[in-house]
Amino acid sequence: MTKPKILIAHGPNLDLLGTREPAVYGHATLATINDKILKFAPQIAQIIGAPVPDLEFFQTNAEHALLDKISLGYDGILINPGAWTHTSLALADRLRGLAVPYVEVHLSNTANREAIRHVSHTAPYAAGVVFGLGGDSYITGLFGLLLRLKNT
Ligand code: DQA
Repeated sequence: MTKPKILIAHGPNLDLLGTREPAVYGHATLATINDKILKFAPQIAQIIGAPVPDLEFFQTNAEHALLDKISLGYDGILINPGAWTHTSLALADRLRGLAVPYVEVHLSNTANREAIRHVSHTAPYAAGVVFGLGGDSYITGLFGLLLRLKNT
């Protein structure tokens, strides 16, 4: 298996992590979360006996920019769509149409929040969904994504 190209995509307002509602999203900044993903990736790859992935990190507050980015030929996508999870049929349609394996992650436990956050347009087509573990949702999600890529 060749090195998989993985996009780590963060949707709207995740650039505010660290100062944004810390009681909900914690104190870690996006840079800290990305550093942790980068640090864990080789260890995860080693545990599952897969090549160390090439990771590309991306955050945007513009929906069209996310739609374009996820279409650039990645082998897998780890995505926190933020509020677009609950609102964007366009993102869900595109993820479904691309047929690239993706894992959806959320820092907060969306099942324990307002009813609107219980709805995910993107989850039905995901390889899996991880939520409620703070920044560790990304680490767990990457684990699952790399396993999925290895086994397909
Ligand atoms: C979030 C949950 C969403 O409901 C919210 O709109 C976000 C962040 C999370 O990571 O917990 O922006 O995706």
